[in-house]
Amino acid sequence: MRNFVLETYFSKWEFSARHHMTASDAQSMSVGDLLDLADLPADALNGLHLGYTETWGAPDLQQAIAGTYDKMKPENVLCFAGAEEGVYAAMRVLLDQEDHAIVVVPNYQAAETLPLDICAVTGVPLDAENNWALDLDDIHAAIRPNTKLVSVCFPNNPTGKIIPASDYAELIEICRKHGLYLFSDEVYRLVELDETKRIVQAADAYEKGLSLNVMSKAYGLPGLRIGWIATQDTDVLQQLERYKHYLSICNSAPSERLAVIALSVRDKILAKNRALMQANVKKLDGFFADYPDLFDWVHPDGSCIAYPKYTGRGSVEAFCEVLVEEEGVLLLPASIYRSELMETPPDRFRIGFGRANIDEGLTAFRAFLDRKNNELTP
Ligand SMILES: Cc1ncc(COP(=O)(O)O)c(C=O)c1O
Repeated sequence: MRNFVLETYFSKWEFSARHHMTASDAQSMSVGDLLDLADLPADALNGLHLGYTETWGAPDLQQAIAGTYDKMKPENVLCFAGAEEGVYAAMRVLLDQEDHAIVVVPNYQAAETLPLDICAVTGVPLDAENNWALDLDDIHAAIRPNTKLVSVCFPNNPTGKIIPASDYAELIEICRKHGLYLFSDEVYRLVELDETKRIVQAADAYEKGLSLNVMSKAYGLPGLRIGWIATQDTDVLQQLERYKHYLSICNSAPSERLAVIALSVRDKILAKNRALMQANVKKLDGFFADYPDLFDWVHPDGSCIAYPKYTGRGSVEAFCEVLVEEEGVLLLPASIYRSELMETPPDRFRIGFGRANIDEGLTAFRAFLDRKNNELTP
């Protein structure tokens, strides 16, 4: 399998860099904080049985997840170990060697490398020069007689782009007309910076839509490793369940309990995370305004990551490398988002704004820029 360059880079730096300024999740919390938020006593999990659980996910977890959709019932939900296992299983189940898939670029790498391991894949660009717009004509043009699925992610990783709701509706119509599955990675849904830009969930809106989601991002609970796929297509879900027997078999029992608890107070968690992201993104607006010669800052539509342009001297790779080595500030340079499907902008970097400690990271970042100003300014 192809090297997952983002995760490999994180293996090196995620837990050693002093300032993780490129995190893709909201601020996390302790078990104690979560129990407090839900008004539960500290010993609430003491009676928890540590046996296997249902492959589908505990029934009350399926129910709680179904409640986050308009039309889903518990039987429309299959849980996975994180979103990642869901992407893997879905690509293996939906695609065969003779099929063809269409994937939006740039993307979270698994979105293209997993289908590429199976079949022919065509990339469709988000236009870097036009606020990451998606041209639906490109989707039309990419469709072949053997196309089986279209894979999208809005809010997008790494750009934060959300396409207009009318375009998303048109995308669904294109998929419907050609009988294509729409694999929709919705892990950043609910943390739109402008909530009027929120789009519908594919599983609600389309009979062949698969909605991928997880407790990791908007809820800030990646350590639970609870993800899921929701879809009206229960045949596909059955096949996915069979596939899961060869992967994690079932989810972690403590994680399932904690996910049910978190979903019971989801409004409180989301309100807290959104408020933090709104405050943090304003800090980034101010920060980048101070360095107009070095960066083109693009305010994202949603998610807690953005993908600005580095306009200083030298490559963005060299810039990010010296920044993390000298100042301990971790960013993800454009090479991490290089696609096998098409050219991608070479001068971007991913910065995150979901975490609580952004001030320390920005102070270190600023110290670096001020020290290196002469070397970096073009
Ligand atoms: C767009 C996207 N999809 C899926 C995943 C995988 O999520 P998880 O780590 O919860 O498995 C990520 C993680 O960064 C992501 O950004």
